[in-house]
Amino acid sequence: MTGTTPLLARTLTLPNGARLGNRLAKAAMSECLGDLELAPTEGHVRLYRRWARSGAGLLITGNIMVERTAIGEVGNVVVDDERDMGLLRRWASAGKEHGAHVWAQLNHPGRQIPVTLNARPVAPSEVPVANTAGLFRSPRELTHGEVETLVTKFATTAGILVRAGFTGIEIHAAHGYLISQFLSPATNRRTDAWGGDRDRRRRFLIEIVRAVRAEIGEVVPLAVKLNSADFQRGGFDQFESAAVVSALADEGIDLLEISGGTYESTAFMGLPAEPVKASSEEREAYFLDFAQRIRQQVSLPLLLTGGFRTTTGIADAIGSDEIDVAGLARPLALEPDLPARMLDGTSTASTVRHRTLGIRRLDGASDLLWHTTQLWRMADGKDPAPGRHPLITMAHYFSRLAPYTLHRIVRGTRSTSRDGYVVRTRGPAEH
Ligand SMILES: Cc1cc2nc3c(=O)[nH]c(=O)nc-3n(C[C@H](O)[C@H](O)[C@H](O)COP(=O)(O)O)c2cc1C
Repeated sequence: MTGTTPLLARTLTLPNGARLGNRLAKAAMSECLGDLELAPTEGHVRLYRRWARSGAGLLITGNIMVERTAIGEVGNVVVDDERDMGLLRRWASAGKEHGAHVWAQLNHPGRQIPVTLNARPVAPSEVPVANTAGLFRSPRELTHGEVETLVTKFATTAGILVRAGFTGIEIHAAHGYLISQFLSPATNRRTDAWGGDRDRRRRFLIEIVRAVRAEIGEVVPLAVKLNSADFQRGGFDQFESAAVVSALADEGIDLLEISGGTYESTAFMGLPAEPVKASSEEREAYFLDFAQRIRQQVSLPLLLTGGFRTTTGIADAIGSDEIDVAGLARPLALEPDLPARMLDGTSTASTVRHRTLGIRRLDGASDLLWHTTQLWRMADGKDPAPGRHPLITMAHYFSRLAPYTLHRIVRGTRSTSRDGYVVRTRGPAEH
């Protein structure tokens, strides 16, 4: 062990008594391994078996969607009933093989659904996604009854996943997806019970937290991933976020994960839109300033994700009691055993770096696709390929998605249902 590793190796007991084996977490990365029926596959099982040996005390799954008409990407998994219990159980067990906690992340994309997947997405208000070259259609405003139904759907999904063996639940309230759309004054223009002031803007999240807690009980850890800010003028700012954190602490959640940004300003990838910059530029973690402020305000365990790359950077943040756990996403797409090596002192830094095509508008997307294809390699039983050119991974990405498109064309299913969803029929189990 080096001087920094004992700090990383300390266990953490959460408010509900659950114990994490160390201070390193694999942050959520959408695996895009689901099949045409939006079900998990053997790829999830193989990938999580690999990450089970990563050394991280906590593995958070990529976002699992709560509603069948609302997936954010091809390959998302939807859990709204028990039809896929067998594979869900095997996915959870694979991740737990070496004692890590495996938490399922729940999400609804709201207006952030590409037009190819839903031509009429829903959102708190009819505010379209800007700067995304027509990829997203203008959303329809949810009715009061639909909002209530969605609260129930989050709880239903959480219950199924806990019965399948996932050891905790994380609600995705960050990155511009539906809950984040409700939180932001820029996207929530409602004047009913779900918008109009900050208490009502956060009501959707708070109701979901209550419904999920009622479903999973006190013993199962419940976490929320929240933006420190969405880095947009007139949007969700640090002050409003701090108020949401206090409300979440009052609800008795077990852990808060801090992130930031949306598709319009990808600060969570270290790429905020000009002119608003992410904080903590002199330190490797993007949102550390916000974590410091929150630390003074609440006694909630904090997981910070975004930019951590070195044992020194992580140990500094934990040692100075700014955060409790460090989240690593992209480093674990490339170096799946990095936490173990950081813990035994054989590695002090990740070699991961931004993989872009050099076109600023596409930087966030190309970096995401590059890392997604590395997950696919591991899901196929291969090692990541760090030297791959972003253009090659782009080709890999789109060729793997081609069967979906072909399937729709050949079967004549590329029609749109009443609620805007691009209709599917049965297809091959793996892609
Ligand atoms: C391929 C990929 C997929 C991601 N999918 C998700 C997701 O499903 N849910 C989520 O909360 N964040 C997701 N993220 C964001 C990461 O959890 C994390 O916040 C971000 O990558 C910054 O952390 P890093 O610097 O350690 O990569 C994804 C990131 C990548 C690279």
